[in-house]
Amino acid sequence: MTTHILGVSAYYHDSAACLLRDGEIIAAAQEERFTRKKFDARFPTQAIRYCLHEAGISLADLKYFIFYDKPLIKFERLLETYVAFSPKGVKSFLAAMPVWLKEKLVMKSVLQNELVSLDGVQKSNLPPILFGEHHESHAASAFYPSPFKSAVVLCMDGVGEWATTSAWLGNDNSLTPLWEINFPHSLGLLYSAFTYYTGFKVNSGEYKVMGLAPYGKPKYVQAIYDNLIDLKDDGTFRLKIDYFNYCTGLTMTNGKFDALFGGPPRKPETWLTQRDMDLARSIQEVTEEIMLRLARTLHRETGAENLCLAGGVALNCVGNGRILRDGPYKGLWIQPSAGDAGGAVGAALTAWYKLENKERTADGTRDSMQASLLGPSYTNEEIEAFLEEKEARYVRLKDEVLFDRLAEELASGKIVGWLQGRMEFGPRALGARSILGDARNPKMQSVMNLKIKYRESFRPFAPSILRERVSDYFEMDTNSPYMLLVAPVVEKRRTQLTEEQKALWGIDLLNVPKSDIPAATHVDYSARVQTVHSESNPRYYRLLKAFEAKTGYPVLVNTSFNVRNEPIVCSPEDAYRCFMRTAIDILVLENCVLYKADQKPLEGDTNWQQEFEMD
Ligand SMILES: [Fe+2]
Repeated sequence: MTTHILGVSAYYHDSAACLLRDGEIIAAAQEERFTRKKFDARFPTQAIRYCLHEAGISLADLKYFIFYDKPLIKFERLLETYVAFSPKGVKSFLAAMPVWLKEKLVMKSVLQNELVSLDGVQKSNLPPILFGEHHESHAASAFYPSPFKSAVVLCMDGVGEWATTSAWLGNDNSLTPLWEINFPHSLGLLYSAFTYYTGFKVNSGEYKVMGLAPYGKPKYVQAIYDNLIDLKDDGTFRLKIDYFNYCTGLTMTNGKFDALFGGPPRKPETWLTQRDMDLARSIQEVTEEIMLRLARTLHRETGAENLCLAGGVALNCVGNGRILRDGPYKGLWIQPSAGDAGGAVGAALTAWYKLENKERTADGTRDSMQASLLGPSYTNEEIEAFLEEKEARYVRLKDEVLFDRLAEELASGKIVGWLQGRMEFGPRALGARSILGDARNPKMQSVMNLKIKYRESFRPFAPSILRERVSDYFEMDTNSPYMLLVAPVVEKRRTQLTEEQKALWGIDLLNVPKSDIPAATHVDYSARVQTVHSESNPRYYRLLKAFEAKTGYPVLVNTSFNVRNEPIVCSPEDAYRCFMRTAIDILVLENCVLYKADQKPLEGDTNWQQEFEMD
């Protein structure tokens, strides 16, 4: 008999659902893509509906519904933290309580009610509702889909129930806990404290801190070690909690933290100063050091050849790149949806392997995340029906024409919105919902940042490259299909700077082209690389091949198909709207191609930028 298991993460950040059929991931999606509300944490009604639809089943067909963590233990942590710091945290405790008492403590019946209203199923027909553990869900999401038969697993995030860092040993279908570091000592929260202090939004602005770091100097590294963290040689650590406010307050840092770094936090949306860049660089260096030490320790302790990573900190692709280059492992695999959304995958896989005790096979090379292309897709017929209804002007091109035509347009500087196949699961666009441009074009970075994404000009873009050509461009020769590894651009492609340019520092560096692919090279000559593989991403691969044939360059700039603060587009309608609102020149929906110059402007669509909250 076929076994279906649904994993869900919700109520904290970026809720999601994942459906397994006999252990295989049939579908996975984040709720934000459907509701169009970034990091939507509500119960993922639409994501669940989508997953069930993809499998052609109803809730009553599920063997288990498994939630990714244990709300009662989280509550115990809040309560104990409150008691430990009492009466200091009374304000934040009271602020958190109504949600906890109303929703999280009675989670089982909340979930049951949500499910009943979702597809009208009788309560008595609902599947059993199970609760996983937060870090076990992360660990499972990292190990089970990995290509490895055995591996050590490192999870690092802000906090789940109690654990903030945990180590596991994965072997066949078992996952054994090794050790953990508990709240309030947290690498994720330390990084978030600096995210907050440099004026970005916690839980989403961490990427910006990482992107800003190369503009700064590591001026504050010693101050961090001397005051904020007691870091041991083995990578384990304790934070000095009196500099932070997250145990008791509604902010991340406090006056003592301000005094240490010479002033209050930067106000969001104000000018970035050199201090912010230096702080970003400093916390980035400390984070990399901790990641590397922990990775080395686990190798020493277990002798494992392979390492798997998950938890929000594993989205720090600069740190991941350091582990790859300087660490002791033969194999490294990172769950592409490393944050809490990926907990839905881990929870479902835990039910399959741990509860059902099913056999697991791993061939050492191929993972089972299917390039993370696990979301909805749309046929050309559905797309044409939509475009007709919108009275949009388009042409439907055959594949033999499509790829060559697009390669030519891209090479001439055009920017292409690209929707193909199933939507990505996780925070990165991987060539299914992407905005693409020519990486050789020195103006591409500023045009894409300012006219398309409407976001900060310092933010770098990532290259997609044919897997077989990656080492011609970057100092790496490994698979990186999920864009989670940063590597330096090879020496021979770097631009020789003039003496004058060498003297530049900070944001002034931005306008100096760094290589022959300047739009995808960060100021420190690094790049967040996506390798594109013919088997797992065939249409995107074909486009890169066509671009290579035309220009000699197997590289494109790939950024997510959205504007700042908008969730990545899901449907042709989302893509069309984003195309019409921005300076994207050409929209490609499967085989249907739209040129901006041919379209009538959208009527009454003037205030759209207010739709999306600032991040
Ligand atoms: Fe987490």
